[in-house]
Amino acid sequence: MKKIESLPFVAEFVRLCSIGDAQGFHERNGGNLSYHMTADEAKAARKLLAGRKPGPWTDVDPKGDVAVPGLAGEWFLVTGSGKFFRNVAYDAEASAAICELDGDGSHYRVRWGLRGGGRPTSEFSSHLMNLEVKDRLSGGKVRVIYHAHPANLIAMTYVVPLKDRDFTRALWNTMTECPVIFPEGIGVVKWMVPGGREIAVSTSKLMEKYANVVWAHHGVFCAADTFDNAMGQMETIEKAARIFMLVLSSGRKPLAGITSAGYRAIGKAFRVEIPARFL
Ligand code: 13P
Ligand code: ZN
Repeated sequence: MKKIESLPFVAEFVRLCSIGDAQGFHERNGGNLSYHMTADEAKAARKLLAGRKPGPWTDVDPKGDVAVPGLAGEWFLVTGSGKFFRNVAYDAEASAAICELDGDGSHYRVRWGLRGGGRPTSEFSSHLMNLEVKDRLSGGKVRVIYHAHPANLIAMTYVVPLKDRDFTRALWNTMTECPVIFPEGIGVVKWMVPGGREIAVSTSKLMEKYANVVWAHHGVFCAADTFDNAMGQMETIEKAARIFMLVLSSGRKPLAGITSAGYRAIGKAFRVEIPARFL
C-alpha cells in the first residue's frame, strides 16, 4: 500500500529538513517546520489513513489560549517537539505529524506520525498564527513556515539594534540581491520567552508586513509559498548575516556600501517595491 511518506508534499518537507540539517541550522531539536496542506493533499492523506484511529483532540497551545479560526478544519504537516531535523529523513513518522484542526481552530488531533508519542513543535502557535495571516494575505498561496537557528544571524542580534529598519539595511547592504529577495525588509521581535501565545502574537503581527522575521538571540521565521523559497530565504538571510559578521570581524571600518539611491535603482530594475521608510 502507498505510504504517507510517498506523497509529494511529504517528500519535499523531508528534503527541506535534510538541507537545513546539512546547513547547520538545526543543532539538536533546534528549529521547526510546518506546511498547510491543500484540500487535495488532505483528501489524499485521508484516503491513505482510512481505518486509522485519530489521536485525541488537544489544545493547540498547552495553555489553551490560542485559536486560529481562519484555519478551522485544515490539515498540516509539522515537525514534532523535541524531534531532531537530522532524523526526519531517517524516520519521518517518528519525527513529524499530520494534524487536523477542529471547527474553531483551537484544538488539533494527530492523524499520522509522532509514532511513540509527543506533540507538535512547541512553536505550533507561532506557525499556525503566521499561516493564518499569510493564508488571508496571499489568498491561500503561502503555505510553508520555517523556523531555524542560523548562527551568524543570531550573532547579528547582539550587535545591530533590534529594529526592523536597522536589520533590513544591515542585511540589504551585504549583497545586492538581498533587496530583490526580501524587498519588503525584515521584521524583528525583541527577546521573548519562546513557545506559546505571546511570541506568536508578536511574530504574526510582523508577518502582516514581512515574509521573514528575526527572533532576537534565537533565530528566524520564514514564510513562503514553496519549500524551495522558504529554504532560499533562510539561506539568503544567513549568508547576508555571515558577510555582515565577516566585515565586522575584519576590524576595518566598513565603507558605505549601497546607498538609498542604489536601492531605488534596484527596485526599478527588478520591479520590486522598496518601502520608503527604509530609504
Ligand atoms: P521544538 O523542538 O519544540 O520544535 O523547539 C525547538 C525550537 O526551536 C523552539 O524555538
Ligand atoms: Zn527556536
